[in-house]
Amino acid sequence: MKFDKIVLLGSNGMLGMAWQALLSSENVNYIALTRHEVDICQPNTFHHIDSDASLVINCTAFNDVDGAESKCGQAFEVNARAINSLSDYCTSINAKFVHYSTNYVFDGKKDLSCGYHENEMINPLSIYGCSKALGEYILKTSSCDYLLIRTSWLYAPWGNSFLTKMVNFDKPSIKVVNDQYASPTSCEHLASCSYSLLNASKFGTWHVTDGGMVSKYEFAVAVANFMNSFYVVLPCASTEFTNSANRPHNGVLDISNMRKELNYISNWKTNLEKAIKQLSRVI
Ligand SMILES: NC(=O)c1ccc[n+]([C@@H]2O[C@H](COP(=O)([O-])OP(=O)(O)OC[C@H]3O[C@@H](n4cnc5c(N)ncnc54)[C@H](OP(=O)(O)O)[C@@H]3O)[C@@H](O)[C@H]2O)c1
Repeated sequence: MKFDKIVLLGSNGMLGMAWQALLSSENVNYIALTRHEVDICQPNTFHHIDSDASLVINCTAFNDVDGAESKCGQAFEVNARAINSLSDYCTSINAKFVHYSTNYVFDGKKDLSCGYHENEMINPLSIYGCSKALGEYILKTSSCDYLLIRTSWLYAPWGNSFLTKMVNFDKPSIKVVNDQYASPTSCEHLASCSYSLLNASKFGTWHVTDGGMVSKYEFAVAVANFMNSFYVVLPCASTEFTNSANRPHNGVLDISNMRKELNYISNWKTNLEKAIKQLSRVI
């Protein structure tokens, strides 16, 4: 499917920047907007979204998983209530809408031998997860034509990413939980798969990650190794972080539908290595 004009919201976020790079390289007609132009909680700013846009890509979110526990109102405002006004606006201008959600809508109690598929029952453990789950529900029950993509553990060589934090880490050791599992996802890969789904006119709900299953600890070790870091990564249990939100033990998303559709074999280690090579050029 061809889109004449694309509007990108949250364009200075981690995923927003990956989308900008992709759309620029594809020579697509797009407009990148930040919170400065469109605050998704302020519908009176939506006039910055051109009424002849055929696609709106929403990369905005309240993403502070731990912070959401005490800033519940803000999380629901951005991740749920705003999706109502945004999807209504897209319907009114006849634009398709791309929105992202998270593996944290699942409770992660499933056996680690398999991941969660798109139609499985959601049961979020955290305020962030609940706010994203409500955003999903609002979108699914709206009259908007949408592509809803759930993903997990996003990273990029820019922005407020695990990689940018790790490269600046200056202590001798870091503790990382070894009882939470998921698939890391490169923003570049996610934007590219999202674009391929759109080009194939695939809408509805999809799971997109880099595939594989690692603990957060194993992921941090891989990052440290690729960076030749001097600090040591130490495994620990989630219970050691008493102030953090609950997160799923099994946060793996089943991506077989995406793989079948796009015939796309990705490997989280290869994507990570590529992003770390770009990191040295970005920082
Ligand atoms: N990060 C992850 O590990 C992860 C995992 C699973 C799913 N996801 C989902 O993937 C999507 C992209 O995440 P990300 O990590 O790229 O996010 P991010 O880097 O935190 O960027 C979020 C963007 O949203 C903007 N924003 C926040 N509130 C806004 C508002 N009221 N109006 C307009 N813009 C607003 C922020 O703008 P400012 O810079 O001005 O604050 C920022 O540009 C989100 O839907 C997220 O829930 C992320």
